[in-house]
Amino acid sequence: MKKLLILLAFTSALAACHYGVEEADKTLKANDEYKSGAGSEYSTNRGNDGVLPKPNSNKEEAYKSLLPQIEALVSGEQDLIANLGNICAALKSAFNFWWVGFYLVKQNELLLGPFQGPIACTRIAIGKGVCGSSWQQAQTIIVADVEKFPGHIACSSASKSEIVVPIIINNHVIGVLDVDSEHLNHFDEIDQLYLEKLIRDISSIF
Ligand code: SME
Repeated sequence: MKKLLILLAFTSALAACHYGVEEADKTLKANDEYKSGAGSEYSTNRGNDGVLPKPNSNKEEAYKSLLPQIEALVSGEQDLIANLGNICAALKSAFNFWWVGFYLVKQNELLLGPFQGPIACTRIAIGKGVCGSSWQQAQTIIVADVEKFPGHIACSSASKSEIVVPIIINNHVIGVLDVDSEHLNHFDEIDQLYLEKLIRDISSIF
């Protein structure tokens, strides 16, 4: 029921933003298959140790379908906060991530921006945690097990793995996109490829 409500909310949001219903249906189907593991070995069964099997191409299809819609969604709006909020909502609805959010560089620290998920720490110094490290290195960081990342900042004890993608504009990191999962080893090169692509494709909103 909860899933249905989330899907309905996402569908309505897309429709309200004048999306092609066909495209939205396609995405929702791909996302649903990704989440249910239909037609694949992928499964979101969370009854075991919380470790996901290696994701397959359904995740890639979900990203491929979702990204153009996110681009279209933000292209009609100038306000940064509104756009970042919707990007978080779209990613969380599509993939059921534990936490999705932006940190933006302000006065030489990362300041919490729009996000979806539990309450998070508000300020992160350069080099600190996964986010501060991604900022310092200007590189995406994938952490398979947050407990094994020295200096990881635990905003939620439920978070088990994480990917942080820097937002680089004119050769400067101006923020990061942080995505957390309650499963170990949730993120791989497919997430990196498409989340980096997303950030590149929407760079004009910053
Ligand atoms: N875990 C992050 C902090 C942000 S929260 O996960 C939302 C880090 O180590 O930088």
